Amino acid sequence: MIGRIFFHLFIIFCLIQFAKTKLYPIEFRLPLLGFQPPPGTPWPKPRSINTTERLFSIDPNRLTFTTNLNEENCSVISQALERYKNIILIDPRYQPEPHHTVIENVHVFISNDTDCSYPSSNSSEGYSIWLPHPERLDQATISADSVWGALRALETLSQLIFANDDHQLLVNQTEIHDFPRYNYRGILLDSARHFLPKRVILANLDAMAMNKFNVFHWHIVDDQSFPFQSQKYPNISEKGAYSKRHVYTTDDIQEIIEYARMRGIRVIPELDTPGHTHAMARAFPDLLTPCYGDGIHPHIPRYPFFSESEVLNPMLNFTFKFMHDMFDEFRHTFKDNYIHLGMDEVSYDCWRSNPEIIRFMRSNGMTDFHHLEQFYIEQTLRMVRDVGYKYLMYQDPVDNGVELSDDSVVIVWKDKYLDSSMDFWQNYIHNVAKRGYKMILSACWYLNYISYPYPGNDWEKYYMCDPRNFSGTDDERDLVIGGEACMWGEFVDGTNLLSRLWPRASAVAERLWSDPEQTQDIDTARLRLDQHRCRMLRRSIPASPILNGYCGDYEWEMNDNIPRPNNGQNGLNGILQSLMRLFR
Ligand SMILES: *[C@@H]1O[C@H](CO)[C@@H](O)[C@H](O)[C@H]1NC(C)=O
Ligand SMILES: *[C@@H]1O[C@H](CO)[C@@H](O)[C@H](O)[C@H]1NC(C)=O
Ligand SMILES: *[C@@H]1O[C@H](CO)[C@@H](O)[C@H](O)[C@H]1NC(C)=O
Ligand SMILES: *[C@@H]1O[C@H](CO)[C@@H](O)[C@H](O)[C@H]1NC(C)=O
Ligand SMILES: *[C@@H]1O[C@H](CO)[C@@H](O)[C@H](O)[C@H]1NC(C)=O
Ligand SMILES: *[C@@H]1O[C@H](CO)[C@@H](O)[C@H](O)[C@H]1NC(C)=O
Ligand SMILES: *[C@@H]1O[C@H](CO)[C@@H](O)[C@H](O)[C@H]1NC(C)=O
Ligand SMILES: *[C@@H]1O[C@H](CO)[C@@H](O)[C@H](O)[C@H]1NC(C)=O
Repeated sequence: MIGRIFFHLFIIFCLIQFAKTKLYPIEFRLPLLGFQPPPGTPWPKPRSINTTERLFSIDPNRLTFTTNLNEENCSVISQALERYKNIILIDPRYQPEPHHTVIENVHVFISNDTDCSYPSSNSSEGYSIWLPHPERLDQATISADSVWGALRALETLSQLIFANDDHQLLVNQTEIHDFPRYNYRGILLDSARHFLPKRVILANLDAMAMNKFNVFHWHIVDDQSFPFQSQKYPNISEKGAYSKRHVYTTDDIQEIIEYARMRGIRVIPELDTPGHTHAMARAFPDLLTPCYGDGIHPHIPRYPFFSESEVLNPMLNFTFKFMHDMFDEFRHTFKDNYIHLGMDEVSYDCWRSNPEIIRFMRSNGMTDFHHLEQFYIEQTLRMVRDVGYKYLMYQDPVDNGVELSDDSVVIVWKDKYLDSSMDFWQNYIHNVAKRGYKMILSACWYLNYISYPYPGNDWEKYYMCDPRNFSGTDDERDLVIGGEACMWGEFVDGTNLLSRLWPRASAVAERLWSDPEQTQDIDTARLRLDQHRCRMLRRSIPASPILNGYCGDYEWEMNDNIPRPNNGQNGLNGILQSLMRLFR
């Protein structure tokens, strides 16, 4: 009897708790574990954050931003101040809270590196926030080594500020000292399997900035289509893109790079060769090695091993002249000093079927197909260096026994989870580490794979994957310079990219930015991520839910009620409009 009363009291207690937290997780265990984060809890978690219970208020009519940088010389900072002011004051109903001290000014101090040109692999992104400034209670102060750190700080600040049920803007007294765990924190998008409208790419850059990602790895072309519009060889995309309109012009690419630069995000293009080149070769069929499916005639497929032609033809000087031109054009179009060379999934079977290849190898003293691959890679690296590029590539050549040069950065992407014939990523990464190459992990972050019964919850698996968690020496682990989440495009286009990627990629963001020691508790992370997801909705990123419930009294998830950011450009409306334009 007593037990039953306690049980009922317990249920009532739980219901009250859930009514307060606005979560209704009935098919999960009751109650949810973990701490419900107070409003204004930032994601990813800063290294060091000290908040008190003292509240300050923001007056939408009196908030100003200042900086020690001459704003005329640095549009990155002037635009960021404007942008974050709009984000913080996103809802016209916001008002000050009369009883608390008002923060009237945010001062951004850039202490050291005032270069505003482009973020790079060694940009410093650390920053501190004092809210309020110890000697000026009406000011919040940001200090950063570089403009890129200032951008990260403004993002954090915008997340600290929240509104109560009366639309009053509040922020707790806070001191933060923060810096990233890894310098390379990437998202891969694939615009070849499906074309991605420019507006979706821009909206994704907004979402990346919200999560402190700093590399957009643009898998721009592949077998299926070649949307890169080349100035030197315009007929590649005429033949290789899905249609005349499914292309990225030089202007489109400049706009995307500029939008990314404003958010401290590098754009690294991938020109994947010698495989994955079908669409590129539609205008230049000679570029591909003919496969001899019957052993006698060229251009005969033998599925599933190869199609009628598979990989670039390493016997032709024209292949290398052409690729030199392409690398040169990429170097001049994309501003980052890194390119991704692909180099994955080279079909030895096709080369093996071709008698001319066998003769070519024999006359050049090659006894194994990896010697031919080595030959292709050496030619490529020479050209890439010649045009002034540094480079990344997939792990495949290392698996095949090809020697790379010491400055190679290798992406470890294979894992048993993706294909049961593969090994575990921990073994691959250890193998690459033994060879001494710098590494980026993506193997456990293929976000294009989705799973039920926990559709929102495969983020937990991404969250628990740590790129240093493999058996190797500390020196070997130190070769990991970052990671990236991949959204391959077979089943993704502009209609579903953002909601499939977010907030699942946010789990990867925290793993790559935050201190792993402080981010082990998945139960608390779940509730923090739920808050962050609602924050993304508020900024018009259509992020998927991860728990039952709703986003609070503002009803951000109910389309009609979502006030738009007043830069007007991005957001759900912009995406829908651009999709409608595309399909009209
Ligand atoms: C946090 O801030 C409060 C108030 O400024 C201060 O008294 C306290 O020592 C700080 N705690 C840490 C761990 O820095
Ligand atoms: C902010 O202050 C309120 C009380 O004023 C407190 O309930 C809340 O936990 C604080 N938030 C943080 C992040 O410390
Ligand atoms: C910034 O611009 C001003 C003119 O607007 C110029 O006098 C000054 O030298 C510039 N400073 C830097 C660091 O480029
Ligand atoms: C200032 O920046 C330079 C490079 O721009 C860097 O070498 C130096 O370590 C930085 N100093 C501090 C104190 O961050
Ligand atoms: C970053 O690296 C570039 C060369 O890649 C160098 O010119 C620049 O000074 C470096 N910056 C810092 C802050 O170390
Ligand atoms: C593409 O243009 C090149 C010259 O730039 C030409 O040699 C080639 O035949 C053209 N290909 C097609 C399919 O028109
Ligand atoms: C390709 O170039 C090499 C070296 O430049 C030269 O020796 C060879 O004859 C060329 N082959 C053809 C088919 O032109
Ligand atoms: C490291 O990986 C192993 C599996 O390989 C897993 O059991 C363990 O929980 C992981 N540890 C951390 C700290 O992620």
